[in-house]
Formats: sequence, structure tokens, C-alpha cells
Amino acid sequence: MAAGRGEFKSRWGFILAAAGSAVGLGNIWGFPTQAASNGGAAFVLVYLVLAFVLAYPVLMAELLIGRHAHGNAVAALRGISNSRLSAGIGALTGGIGILMACLILSFYGIVAGWILGYTASFPIEALGFTSAADWLIGFDLSRNISLMVLFMFMTIGIVVGGVHDGIERWSTRLMPALIVTLIALALYVLTLDGASAGLKVYLLPDLSRIFSGDLIFDALGSAFFSLSLGVGTMLIYGSYLSDKENLPSTGAQVALIDVGIAVLAGFLIVPAMFVAAERGVEIFDARGALLSEDTLIFNVLPALFETLGLAGTFMATAFFALLGVASLTSSISILEVPVAFLVEQFNWPRKRAALTAGALIATVSGIVLMNFDVLFGLVVTLTTRYGQPILGLMLCIYAGWVWRQDSLLGELKKTDAAAETSLFFRIWPVYVRFVCPVIVGSIVIRSIL
Ligand code: PFF
Repeated sequence: MAAGRGEFKSRWGFILAAAGSAVGLGNIWGFPTQAASNGGAAFVLVYLVLAFVLAYPVLMAELLIGRHAHGNAVAALRGISNSRLSAGIGALTGGIGILMACLILSFYGIVAGWILGYTASFPIEALGFTSAADWLIGFDLSRNISLMVLFMFMTIGIVVGGVHDGIERWSTRLMPALIVTLIALALYVLTLDGASAGLKVYLLPDLSRIFSGDLIFDALGSAFFSLSLGVGTMLIYGSYLSDKENLPSTGAQVALIDVGIAVLAGFLIVPAMFVAAERGVEIFDARGALLSEDTLIFNVLPALFETLGLAGTFMATAFFALLGVASLTSSISILEVPVAFLVEQFNWPRKRAALTAGALIATVSGIVLMNFDVLFGLVVTLTTRYGQPILGLMLCIYAGWVWRQDSLLGELKKTDAAAETSLFFRIWPVYVRFVCPVIVGSIVIRSIL
């Protein structure tokens, strides 16, 4: 292990940090709105199956490679390679992963900035500062840039603190707050008129949708995005994990929390949409389909909160703060990817690495904001639809084919003397070798076509 490398100090610290990375806009915003417009429980079911059958094995590949190498993605993929060619391709894959992580943060920071604006706007409006509140939620370049920069500073501030004092400390504070707020909001919404119509949509599967190709691909994309796969985030978090921890069960807990929070968020968002409809807010477009995801979060829900008076102000503030916290625990994990690389490969001090990477990413976000109509969708599609699955496929190939099997199995046996008799030990190595690459590969090919 490189001298002075950070380490998570406790198993819970790691689980909450990795779950913090996984739980983000993808869970609280993306998953429920996609479920509502894709056959409700049918989507939930497909998502659950894919999360455990496909995303969890890829998560394990990242965690195992990272923990084995105790190094950043470039060093780790090079380290497990068995030839000069595979070392070169591994370093390139790791490098592209770092670039993709930076691009993901460039759009994530923009959306998280909007969320900060919405969070502050409700109390500010209630205090009578209407024009300030309007500025915070208006789509204006100066507002978009200021809020994105503010969010990036928060992210940089935590990452500068290091693995234990920054990432672990803040994740263990913020994640419990997130879970409590989410449960409280869901319980409140479920008491309102109209919630049961939403529950029906969420819980009764429209089975005719289950075998639709698009549904499966959408659900897989969501599962990959939601578990932060492909770009080296989980790899770098795994690299800070002590050799004592049992990875299969730790990884399973992270996946369970991620999926659990997505499902829980559905109990808030989907009923809330139907409560809004009950109160006269439009939730369907002219063709009878649900409005787009961003309209639902930034227009429909605020319109609902407005109808609830003071309780609505509290709810709105808590809801957007919840989204803000979820974004922050994810953004720190994304920034850690380039930061770890700069610290380890170039011996930079952490502060310089975090400030430089953060400033570069914020500059890219600024460019995206100035050409929003063209670039925003492009960056999202490039990174999440192509980048993450292709890199996930490469990670499966490295874990299954490039990494020497005895070394991989040795990594699994490190913490569990009886590992050889476990189901995971018997299934996963074969699975990551044959099944994952074929399924993820066919999905990649389909997205390209
Ligand atoms: N998992 C995060 C979410 O669901 O919002 C997004 C994310 C974080 C994607 C980290 C990729 C990543 F590396």
C-alpha cells in the first residue's frame, strides 16, 4: 500500500460512504419517476432483479480490484494485468474512467446547484424576499453558475479533508439524516388525499410492460448509474478498505441500501405526484403520458408544496435538502476519483489535487451551462448511456479474464477462511467471466445501434 494512503476507519463508515456514493439523484429522482412512467411495479421488479443479478457482480469486481491494488483505477488495472498489452489497455481504461467521472460530475454539479437553489428558495420566499427566491429558482446563467460553483466548493471542502476526516465523517453524518428525512416525508405524503392512487400505480405491475426491451435497458442503465459503476468510484472506495473486511457481504449491504432507498423514495415521489394531481396540478402531458422527470421534480412537486401552506414550506425545504445531501455524498465520491489519481501518480498534496480537479470540472460545467441546449443532454448520454456500461464491461473482462484467477480467489479468501465453501465464491468468478460480459456487452451494442 502506498505510504500515507487514507483508509476507512470502520466497516460502517465504509458502508455509509459507499452507499452515500450510490444513493443520489439516481435513486430519489430518477428511479421513482422512471418507475411511474414505465409500468410501476413492473419496472421496480425488473430493476430489483437487474440490480442483484448484474449490477451487484460488477460492483464486486470494482471493490475487489480496488481493495487488491490499494490504488487508483489506472494503477489498479495496470497492476492486475498479465502482459504489457493488457497493462496498457488497463491504464487507458482507468484513464477514460477518470475522465468520465469528471464529466459526470460536470453535469451532476449543475443539477445539484439547482437543488441548492430550490432548498433555499422556500424559506426565503416565506420570509417575504420574493425576488431573491425567484432568482434562486429561475433558469438564469448567473444563477446556474453561482449555485454550481457553491456546490463544487462544498464537494471540494469535504474531499480536501481526506478519506477518514472528510468522506467517512460526512457520509456517516449525512446518510442517517437522509434516511430519516425520507421516511418522515413519505409517511406524511401517504396521509394526503390522492396518495392511494399513486400507491396503486407504484405497486400494481403493468405486466404487459415487463418484457419490453426498452424497459429492461432503461432499468439496467438506472441500476448502473445508481450503483456508481464503471468510472472507478467504487474501485477507489474499495482501495481504502482494510484487508480485514469481508467484501461480498459488505458489497451486498451497500447494494441493499441503494436499492432500499430507491424503493423507499418511490413511496414518496409517486404518491406525491398523484396528490398533486388531486389538487389540480397537471401531471400528464397532452398525450396522457407522465410529464418529464425534471418537470415532475422542479415544477409538479413545488406546485404541490405550495398548496400545503406552511407545512408545504417545511416539506419543500426538507425534500430539496434531502436531494442536496444525496447529491453531496455522491459528488464527493466522484471527485475522489481524479483526486486519488493526482495524489498517487503525481505526488500532489490532496488540497492542490482537489482544488485543481474541482476547478477544471467547474469550468467544464460552466461551458455546458453556456451551451446548455446542445451540451447538457450530450454529456449525460455520453457518460451514462455509453461510458458507464462500456467501462463496466471492461472491468468484468479485467476481473474475469485478465486478472490471474488464483490472485482473484486469494483476494476473496483473505478475510474469510471458509470462503471456498460459500455460494458467492463458487458462482461469482464464473459469472463475472462469462455471464456479465455477455449481458452487459449486448446492452452496450444495443445502445450503440
Ligand atoms: N449513484 C449516483 C446516483 O444514483 O445519483 C450517481 C453516480 C455517483 C454516478 C458516482 C457515478 C458515480 F461514479
